[in-house]
Amino acid sequence: MNTKIITAENITEAALCLKAGGMVVFPTETVYGLGGDAFSDDAVDKIYAAKGRPSDNPLIVHICDISQLSLLASSVSPKAALLMEHFWPGPLTLIFDKSPNVGGKVTAGLDTVAVRFPSNETAQRLIAESGTLVAAPSANLSGSPSPTVCSDVIDDLYGRVDYIIDGTGCEIGLESTVVDVSGDRTVVLRPGAVTLEMIQKLIPDAELDAGLIDADSVPKCPGLKYTHYSPKAEVIVVQGDSERVRAYIQSQLDDNPACGVLSYKGSTYSGGAIVLDAGDCMEQYAHNLFSHLRTFDRHGVALVYAEFALEGGMGTAVRNRLYKAAGHHIIEV
Ligand code: TXA
Ligand code: MG
Repeated sequence: MNTKIITAENITEAALCLKAGGMVVFPTETVYGLGGDAFSDDAVDKIYAAKGRPSDNPLIVHICDISQLSLLASSVSPKAALLMEHFWPGPLTLIFDKSPNVGGKVTAGLDTVAVRFPSNETAQRLIAESGTLVAAPSANLSGSPSPTVCSDVIDDLYGRVDYIIDGTGCEIGLESTVVDVSGDRTVVLRPGAVTLEMIQKLIPDAELDAGLIDADSVPKCPGLKYTHYSPKAEVIVVQGDSERVRAYIQSQLDDNPACGVLSYKGSTYSGGAIVLDAGDCMEQYAHNLFSHLRTFDRHGVALVYAEFALEGGMGTAVRNRLYKAAGHHIIEV
């Protein structure tokens, strides 16, 4: 397939292509999305094929105006309305009972539908100009870290999609928070920048899905059961007191210098390791995590030690993605 890389100035031709059944990659405030017409089974099939994604893993439908929700959801509870009022547009996906308008492919046969109203201006313009609603998973090949810069999109999807919009965005760097508001309970299925603490200020009994807490139970977010976010390199998380974390990693590097280190708060290491810093707080860690994992792969690093510290807030989302990238290989020091 001939892929055109454009900027937001030429968004109209990409929007027309999307409306005609094509695939358009676009930036959002979280990660890049791979968009197609949410009401076209053919377009949705093409998205699954382009990503190599199992078709039992449903897609998020993106809107650019609250009024469009009535096309997708059969009912909206007062709790859902409260979350929408506070966090839309933004990095929050809500799960509703689906309306009969919504086809079975985009929801992978579920009777619920995931809906997100992104705040990124380019994303909003693409949806508005397409004249439809946009089904979009993250714009990576299935199993790889989500792309947060255009070069990472190109690595995965060049030749597999019609358009890639090279735009600004992805400030957050991790995918949206997914919250199930279809039942009586308000359940966070995937942690993100809208944290459990922020949600509980509005809905005190909101909770994390058991699958996020207990490694043995099955997550309700179908996508979270797959190996995800994995770079080619093996990742080992080292967590605990920061001095002990550094000492442990340095001792490993002394034996095997050809490693990568994802450092935190600027720690330095001696020897030849490739060190990329995740930043000074969990927001920066989130922003850098996926792009740094891809950079380690570009350097051909086989093993990456990731410094990590258990922190609340955004730390919950970082931990979720990092532990998956590491296949739950965690060393406590
Ligand atoms: O930030 C984001 O959410 C990005 C941007 C592009 O919007 N999109 C994204 O999509 O991360 P994706 O497909 O990579 O992840 C969507 C997650 C998957 O884990 C999927 O299983 C879950 O949402 N999901 C979708 N529909 C669902 C439903 N009806 N019930 C439960 N989980 C659902
Ligand atoms: Mg994804």
